[in-house]
Amino acid sequence: MSSENNSPFMGFLLKHDQDAWWSVVHKLASSVHQVDRDATQIWFYFWPLWLRGMLQEAAGRKKLFEELEVKGDPDLARQIDSSHAFVYGHRYWPQVKVAVAEHAASQGAPESLDLTDQIRSVASQVAASTKVDESLLIGITAIGFMTLQQVGADAFKAAEGKLHISDWARKRSPQNILSHRAKNDGGGLFAYLKGLRKDYTITFNEGFKTAKFKLIEGVQLTQAAMTDQADHPYADSRCEPGDGPLPTECRSAACGTCWIGVLGGNDRLSAVNPLEQRRIARFAYIDTEEARPLIRLACKAHAKGNVTVVVPPWNAVAGNYLQGKDIAIGGHAASADEQPVVDPRRH
Ligand code: FES
Repeated sequence: MSSENNSPFMGFLLKHDQDAWWSVVHKLASSVHQVDRDATQIWFYFWPLWLRGMLQEAAGRKKLFEELEVKGDPDLARQIDSSHAFVYGHRYWPQVKVAVAEHAASQGAPESLDLTDQIRSVASQVAASTKVDESLLIGITAIGFMTLQQVGADAFKAAEGKLHISDWARKRSPQNILSHRAKNDGGGLFAYLKGLRKDYTITFNEGFKTAKFKLIEGVQLTQAAMTDQADHPYADSRCEPGDGPLPTECRSAACGTCWIGVLGGNDRLSAVNPLEQRRIARFAYIDTEEARPLIRLACKAHAKGNVTVVVPPWNAVAGNYLQGKDIAIGGHAASADEQPVVDPRRH
């Protein structure tokens, strides 16, 4: 093992479990720019520490994957640069990655034994050097530290630090993105007076201009996605030809394939029904009684307006696995604008 993996900071970082991390995320939430407040939490739901632990269970890993019905790519080590492409702060990833790696390699005693302070400190350094508002860097810096903990200093440092969004997306301002998320279609007054069915826009990847499809009111997201006939299996092997950009299998809350994070328009989605609430906890994605959480099953969610979502690159049915290890999903809060729940519920 390299000296960087053994640095005092890495020793300190590795002591943080999932509950400690959720506490850090909630403490930082009010300092994160609105454009990334929910996105940062969604990233932490997509990449829990238990997932890394499961990948490291070398013995019987193949059997375990079959038991938990793991599909897609759950290995963060292969996605160090890309896992957070939906976070606005991703635009500053090259600089954040270098600063986090340098912090990790430092052999001196940390100035503070509070991880929140250390994340703020690194974000502040990058803000000074890039002349970017610190609020746009705190979320991506926290993600950088969690990625470092999961993949180790050597793999983290070895990643190229590349961006995974289009040139079009790179030029967008936070305000432009927020106003796009707030915008609503629906046919306007003419459609209303004519009694026409309204159709809305579902954006499934903010990093690319054409990554959207239309949804007619009353239709589930997965059904609406089928109108998009682009070659999505090429980008994500879980997508079946003809099913569109949202990976789907059962369409009945049974398989967990269709989970998504909601970046915008959450209040335009139908409330979670008891089946979706039960199943989404059984999959180990989120465990909450909130009516409109940040994580949803696209096969159960209907929209009454434009919605912006993000698709995680893996899925599993891991609730029993976590229960066997007495691990809580934790962290749940419907939106970073709401008061965080400090004491995570075990399921
Ligand atoms: S497609 Fe199976 S849970 Fe939604």
